Amino acid sequence: MKNGGRRGPRATGKAVSAAAAAAELEAARMAAAGRTAEFPGRSDDESSPLTVVEPIKPDFAVSKKARAKARSRRAARRFPVEKVIKESQYWLDIISKGQRLTPGQKKRIIKETVKSFSTYFNTGFLAYRKSVAEADQYASIEWTGEGTMIEDITGRQYIDCLGGFGIYSAGIRHPRIVEAVRNQLERMPLSSQELLDPLRGALAELLGEIAPGNLQKCFFINNGTDAVEGAMKLARLYTEKSGFISTLRGFHGKSYGSLSLMGKAEFRIAFEPLLQDVYFVEFGDADEVEWQLKKARDVGLDIAAVVAEPVQGEAGAIVPPDDYWPRLRAVCDEYDVLLIADEVQTGMGRTGKLWGVDHWDVIPDIMCLGKSVGGGVMPLSAFISTPEIWKVLEQNPFLHSSTFGGNPLACAAGIAAINVTLGEDLPGQAAEKGAYFLQGLRELQARYSDVIVEVRGKGLLIGIEFNSTEFGYSVAAGLFRRGVLVAGTLLNAKTIRIEPALFIPKEQIDEVLNRLDDTLKSLT
Ligand SMILES: Cc1ncc(COP(=O)(O)O)c(C=O)c1O
Repeated sequence: MKNGGRRGPRATGKAVSAAAAAAELEAARMAAAGRTAEFPGRSDDESSPLTVVEPIKPDFAVSKKARAKARSRRAARRFPVEKVIKESQYWLDIISKGQRLTPGQKKRIIKETVKSFSTYFNTGFLAYRKSVAEADQYASIEWTGEGTMIEDITGRQYIDCLGGFGIYSAGIRHPRIVEAVRNQLERMPLSSQELLDPLRGALAELLGEIAPGNLQKCFFINNGTDAVEGAMKLARLYTEKSGFISTLRGFHGKSYGSLSLMGKAEFRIAFEPLLQDVYFVEFGDADEVEWQLKKARDVGLDIAAVVAEPVQGEAGAIVPPDDYWPRLRAVCDEYDVLLIADEVQTGMGRTGKLWGVDHWDVIPDIMCLGKSVGGGVMPLSAFISTPEIWKVLEQNPFLHSSTFGGNPLACAAGIAAINVTLGEDLPGQAAEKGAYFLQGLRELQARYSDVIVEVRGKGLLIGIEFNSTEFGYSVAAGLFRRGVLVAGTLLNAKTIRIEPALFIPKEQIDEVLNRLDDTLKSLT
């Protein structure tokens, strides 16, 4: 059977028609535009943290037959095996050809990427990507990157101030990190799970030696959310208590445990009930934490830990008062609960010190790491704690495990990332470049004070808050068209985040400021 009459590029073996691709792109753009107009307040921005997008609820009773029909229709239209092999070979050839693609091949890849995102991945994303919604003729397809620059498949260049939401602290494809991973790949990619893997031990030692205070023993996984899950389990195990105190607008990941700590309704509501004994307090207000702990003690609620980001990242680079973290440490000690610092975004120099908590000389009981700890080359995360707390995991080490966590490739990247971070003084560079960037942004704020509400941040975790979500989105879109990527999406654009590589040259910061000035000029 030949694809059961399925239409499209893969079914016919021909490239999708330009008209079809253009229609698809246009549909995505319309959806983007429609959403902006229709739901101006639906963002998860700071001004409306409780604005909730209702999830679409399918009517299961009505659609039962339809679903059965769709199942058999889909089964009849699947690619035959030979086609899957041919199709995968087509992509393997593209991967190996790298830069040597013809203009025709490039156009075909653009069209097919939009099409397959829509048909097989999640159409919804197309409308939210500026690379689609704000592209001129063709969607911008990520192709190559180096240092602070990203180039799309057609050669359009972007200064990367988004940094993959904080993963590229050492830049894109740092040569020493790539080399370490490449060399390890030649020897052993993943762990046998029986023989002792030396890089896991080596990375654990390095992290144990550079972590604050007596944090020494760690476990490796792959995502930030995994690190938070591990930290929560460890806190429960050690304290034999179940509750957590988290912060409004705090972001700790989207798996069930970490989602339970999420301080934004729009990500929680569709998945309730989450963990029930999580209590939320205002970020930056240690009195409220103390008040919650007192209430919990008075009424007999068990609290295992207080969890917070040193500087709230996803919420828009919110810097707490200077006495916040020292006071958190003191009240946690007073009430005998653990203090968990989620350094997934702030760690590895992002805020101008190696760890965010270093700004206040605070040693948490458990620290979560992720994002840039893999050097921007491999996914890697970890949670780390003291030998005393860690004991509860040692009697039965299989209480918490992971197949891919701490694999040799990730550990090679982690070891190289530490070497580069300290060897090139990335935290020091972040402090210096961050101060320079903030100064330039504050000068712009003074000139555009009617639209820029606040410029804030620490190191190179910077937020620019605008007077409305729509305006913020227009700025992010204007910057995109001028070749600058920032972390402001349609869903969260009132504040845009700037998180470039920590060594971004000052001339490039000047260039970003010029393009921002130009964008603001055109919009006001
Ligand atoms: C502070 C913090 N914790 C946890 C996470 C979740 O990380 P991941 O998306 O890798 O699961 C994030 C992601 O942005 C984060 O910023």
